[in-house]
Amino acid sequence: MPARIIDGKAIAAALRADAGRDVASLPFQPGLAVVLVGDDPASAVYVRNKHKATVEAGMASFEHRLASSTSEADLLALVAKLNADEKIDGILVQLPLPNHIDATKVLDAIDPAKDVDGFHAVNAGLLASGRSGLVPCTPAGCMRLIASLGQNIAGKHAVIVGRSNIVGKPMAHLLLAADCTVTVAHSKTANLAELCRSADILVAAVGRPEMIKGDWIKPGAIVIDVGINRVPTPDGKGRLVGDVDYAAALPVAGAITPVPGGVGPMTIACLLANTLAAAKARRP
Ligand code: GUN
Repeated sequence: MPARIIDGKAIAAALRADAGRDVASLPFQPGLAVVLVGDDPASAVYVRNKHKATVEAGMASFEHRLASSTSEADLLALVAKLNADEKIDGILVQLPLPNHIDATKVLDAIDPAKDVDGFHAVNAGLLASGRSGLVPCTPAGCMRLIASLGQNIAGKHAVIVGRSNIVGKPMAHLLLAADCTVTVAHSKTANLAELCRSADILVAAVGRPEMIKGDWIKPGAIVIDVGINRVPTPDGKGRLVGDVDYAAALPVAGAITPVPGGVGPMTIACLLANTLAAAKARRP
């Protein structure tokens, strides 16, 4: 039997609609500030989509587009201003930042209570120690997709391929909190194919097109593909593929996220959920 396809688009739409209803019931309007430095085309698309979704949910969206030549000091000054602005509940600085700016310094300058990306050291530390804080959006979205299957995942072996601060590491903590046995694999991991074959839950977050092959997947496994890679096609337009060879994985997996339409839409939906949570916590 082919895998159940996890419809991230539909699950994200439901979450966004929930956020919109919740916003409408509040006595104030939550506000999200998004900061984009430079003109990376992919980042520009993400920021545009975030703005659209924020407005659709009834929240105020404040966009700050800065030149790639912006100094670190100027960016830190903007973050300080947004921290102090009462209308703003969430602050997101789009990554990557230009090389002359220390991203860690900027992320750690954001008020942890407004850190809707969950990248501040305080929120990362809260997650790592099993305490509540703002959780990074993409891994939070992956957990919601897994939860949508309604399976008991306690005691399952989860293998995460990728150890980034944005996805791999927070995902490991979330799966641990859900009582999985967690292995984090990366570019230096030995016998990766064999390790993946032992995964009841496989999370691919490496950014390498179709790297995870069909015979790396345990029959019946839950496969969550975080990768979004554009590969060339003869017509020159290119096509989006994940980190998993989807066609090969489909007959083997128990459930799988497609690309596009799987994890991608969940990130923005979880950003709205985080902004709402931050707003409620700030303005009780
Ligand atoms: N760049 C790629 N993913 C993300 C994300 O989730 N948040 C931010 N701020 N930048 C990103």
